[in-house]
Amino acid sequence: MDKLIRAREYEKAHLADISAEERPVYHVTPALGWMNDPNGFSYYKGKYHIFYQYYPYATKWGPMHWGHYTTTDFVRWEFLPAALAPDEDYESGCYSGSAVETVDGTHLIMYTAHLERKTEDGENQIIETQCIASGDGIDYVKYEGNPVLTAKDIPKGGSKADFRDPKIWIENGIYYSVTVNMAPDQSGQILLHSSEDGYHWKFVRVLEACRNEYGEMWECPDFFRLEDKAVIMVSPMHMKARDLEFHSGHNVIGIIGTCGDDFKFTRESVRNIDYGFDFYAAQTTESADGRRIMTAWMQCWESSNCQPAHAKWFSMLTFPRELNLYEGKLIQNPVRELEGYRKNRVVYTGYTVEGECELEGVSGRSADVEVTLKGDESDCKEFVIYVASNEEVHTSFHCDMEREIITVDRGRSGIRHDIVCQRQFRFEKKNGDVKLRFLIDRFSIELFVNDGEQAFSMCIYDTPVSAAGIRFAADKTIKIDVEKYDIIV
Ligand code: FRU
Repeated sequence: MDKLIRAREYEKAHLADISAEERPVYHVTPALGWMNDPNGFSYYKGKYHIFYQYYPYATKWGPMHWGHYTTTDFVRWEFLPAALAPDEDYESGCYSGSAVETVDGTHLIMYTAHLERKTEDGENQIIETQCIASGDGIDYVKYEGNPVLTAKDIPKGGSKADFRDPKIWIENGIYYSVTVNMAPDQSGQILLHSSEDGYHWKFVRVLEACRNEYGEMWECPDFFRLEDKAVIMVSPMHMKARDLEFHSGHNVIGIIGTCGDDFKFTRESVRNIDYGFDFYAAQTTESADGRRIMTAWMQCWESSNCQPAHAKWFSMLTFPRELNLYEGKLIQNPVRELEGYRKNRVVYTGYTVEGECELEGVSGRSADVEVTLKGDESDCKEFVIYVASNEEVHTSFHCDMEREIITVDRGRSGIRHDIVCQRQFRFEKKNGDVKLRFLIDRFSIELFVNDGEQAFSMCIYDTPVSAAGIRFAADKTIKIDVEKYDIIV
C-alpha cells in the first residue's frame, strides 16, 4: 500500500503545479508525469471511468501505476487519485488491463502484473500474470488469490514473459477475457478465458493469431460485437508497411469477422484503424445507450522520448470516438457529446478558392472544423489545408484530388526532434467530394475523412498555442464548404 499512498500524496502536493492553460482543452492528459495506454475504460454507477498507464514522478515511462479519471460526457474529466501501484511481490509494474461493473455492483479490474527480477543465478527473468482488483470507483483492493491467470493457463509453448493486457467483458452472465501472448512462432496470439465469477478462470481457446502476418508480438487486445459482426482490435508491434497501409511500426488493426456463442472467430478483413503518427493501444467500452466508444494512446513509442522541453506532463488520449460499421468497414467519429461544447458557428457554402486564402472566422486551437472539397465543381488537382499556422509554423494536409491520396506533414510545425513527420494515406471521393473534419486542440490534431472512413491522429507539442491560423490553397480553382465551431469547455 505504501507505493499507492506515496503516489496519492505526490498527486495532492503537485496537481496544482499544472494550470488548465498548460493542458489541452478537451483531451485527457496524465494528472502528473507520464501516461501511456488507456486502461479500464468502463461505465460504472452512472459514470465513465478511464484509467491509464501512469508514472507520476517523471514525464518518462517508469514502474507502472494506474491513474484515474471519470466523466459523464467524455469532454469534462474529473481527476481521481491513483488507483493501482505496483506494491505486491508478484509485480514490479501494474500493466494494462480493463474493468467491468459486476452484477453485485463492484468495479472489477483485471490487469497484468508484470514482474522483472533476478533469479538466483543472476539471470533477468520476466513473468507476466493477470490479476484482479475490486473497488467502489475510487479505492481498489487487490484480490488475495492473485494472480488469477498464470503460465498454466497458456497453451503449450506460449511465452510466460509476454502474456498481458486482459480485456474483460460480461456476456450472457459469463465473464470473458482476451489477453495477448507470444505464440511459439514468436508472434502474437489472443487467448480467450472465461469465468463464472470473475475470479476463477479457465482457458477457452486461441481466439485469433498473428502467424507472423501482422507484425510480431501483439498488445492490448479488445473484442466486441457490432451489429452482426465481431471485431477484434489489437496493437501489433513491429509492423511492416504494405503500400500505404500499416505505416506506424506499432500499429492498431481492426479484424472484422463473425463469431458465434462458441467463440469460433472467422476472419473476414483486417484494416488499419488510424493512419496517424500517434495512435496506439486502443480500448473500447459500451456506453450507457449502447454505443461502442473507443479511445487510444495518442502517442507512439518510437517518439515517446521526444518530449517538449520543460514538460510537466506527457502524452494524451485521443478524443473518444463512436464506432460503427458501414459497408463492412469500421467507421469512427468523435462522440456526439462534443456537439454540446461547439460554439461560435461560422459557415461558408460553395466558397471558391483560387490560390491561397484565409476565411474570416475560420481559425482556432480548440476547434471542430469541417471542410468539404467539391471535387466536381473544380479543376483543382492539389488542395492544401494549413492548420495551427502562423507566418512561421503550420501542419499541412495535401489532398491529391486525382490520385485520392492525402499527405500529412508536420515537418514545419515547430518540431524540435527528428521524428516521422510525413505520411500518406488513400481516401475515396464520394460523388467527387471529400469531407475533412479536424478536431484541433492545443497539442493535437485529429482528422476524420468522409464521415469517419479514415482517421489520422497526431500530436503537435512544439507548435505555439498562438499559431491558430487555418489557410487554404488550391493549384487551380475549387469550391469548398466550411463549418467551424470553437470548442469551449
Ligand atoms: C502497450 C504496452 C502494454 C503494456 C503497457 C506497459 O503500450 O506495452 O502491452 O501492458 O504498455 O506500460
